[in-house]
Amino acid sequence: MFGKKTIHDYDVYGKKVLLRADYNVPLNTDGSIASDYRITESIPTIRALQEKGCRIVIIAHLGRPKGKRDKKLSLKVVAKELSGLLNSEVTFVPDCVGEKVATATQEMESGEVVLLENLRYHPEEKANDEEFAKKLLADTGAEVFVQDGFGIVHRAHTSTDAITRFIPSVSGLLLEKEVGTISAALHQPNRPLMAIIGGAKIADKIDIINRFLDIADIVVIGGAMSNTFMAAQGIEVGESLVAEEEIDTAHEIIERVRQVCAQRQFIFYLPQDGVVARKVDKGARTRVVDWDGHVFASVEHYPKKPEPRDSKVRKDEMILDIGPFSAAFISGAMQMCKTVVWNGTMGVSEVESVYDSVGPFAHGTESIIESMVGKYGNKPYTLVGGGDTTSYLDQRGLQDMFNHVSTGGGASLELMAGKELPGVTVLWGKE
Ligand code: 3PG
Repeated sequence: MFGKKTIHDYDVYGKKVLLRADYNVPLNTDGSIASDYRITESIPTIRALQEKGCRIVIIAHLGRPKGKRDKKLSLKVVAKELSGLLNSEVTFVPDCVGEKVATATQEMESGEVVLLENLRYHPEEKANDEEFAKKLLADTGAEVFVQDGFGIVHRAHTSTDAITRFIPSVSGLLLEKEVGTISAALHQPNRPLMAIIGGAKIADKIDIINRFLDIADIVVIGGAMSNTFMAAQGIEVGESLVAEEEIDTAHEIIERVRQVCAQRQFIFYLPQDGVVARKVDKGARTRVVDWDGHVFASVEHYPKKPEPRDSKVRKDEMILDIGPFSAAFISGAMQMCKTVVWNGTMGVSEVESVYDSVGPFAHGTESIIESMVGKYGNKPYTLVGGGDTTSYLDQRGLQDMFNHVSTGGGASLELMAGKELPGVTVLWGKE
């Protein structure tokens, strides 16, 4: 499935390796690392290179610095974290080209690790500049290039593309694992296959929605983009986030769904109820609105019927999560599934709660997590992608309960959508 040479197929023994990692980690407001998942996932490649006696010079980026150096986006904080994880000193160099780099990388010992400063402090990085590539190679004296930054290979930048024109270029173990696992799961999925797609904008996910309309058995839409689908169907959504300019796209997708349903067994699921509030706040008063009228009786006052207000989002309310009926429907459907691909939380998951470890608008996401990890019996094969989704699992310490949690944001979306990744294409192929 993965047709590129890796560090195990190419003779890297004792060589000086230029290793591209994706250390674009989320930061807290005090500058500390909020999630080290991308760093921990890079360790197997570094260890394997150390075992092969390599000298390892790592290049990476952090954030999107504008113009001059933005100190807040220095990789120094990553060097410290990496030293801790490797349990050995990682030398940090405060630039990625120039004399300091040449000095620090000249006399390296076998197994030594050096991390260079943020590549994006130089605009040439994003410009895919050959001269900058040559400079990176000349100043570090690298003999082989190893691409292991899965999260960045959807970009054609100097450190993913131009550099490979001047040096043997092979894959690291994380890149191999990510591309191999995601491609295999989507090419020959164990069926039924459910895709759960959340997020704010349809435009950001249109390609994977289309791919899953082709290959999945069930597609579930959550997050703010489901508001746009509901608005397109004339359901009142109050002050909810709706992308007016995407209403036509929502209609087109619904039309495609009709065609797919006419050809084969297929479910396209939009939330039937939601958690609403007047503000996005940790102490906000919430209530559940069942706009599809599926709840026939009030739970507390059975057999009394629900009030009309229970099925309508008021003008000043926002839908901020899927409701319990929708969560139960998705969990029920998941009991039949053998594979679940998840990308995007169901509600506003970054708001903490004053009452609970789970935020006031994250209960829908929590319910689908419980069914994915087998709490209700069936345990499907689970594949998770997307920056926000991964960060959510990392904060909750739940990654280990899933089969594969991708380190990629945009890269995993593009791979799942069946697109080519430029930073993978350029690597040396297996003979
Ligand atoms: C990511 O976090 O998705 C990658 O590191 C790419 O970052 P970018 O979107 O700033 O290019």
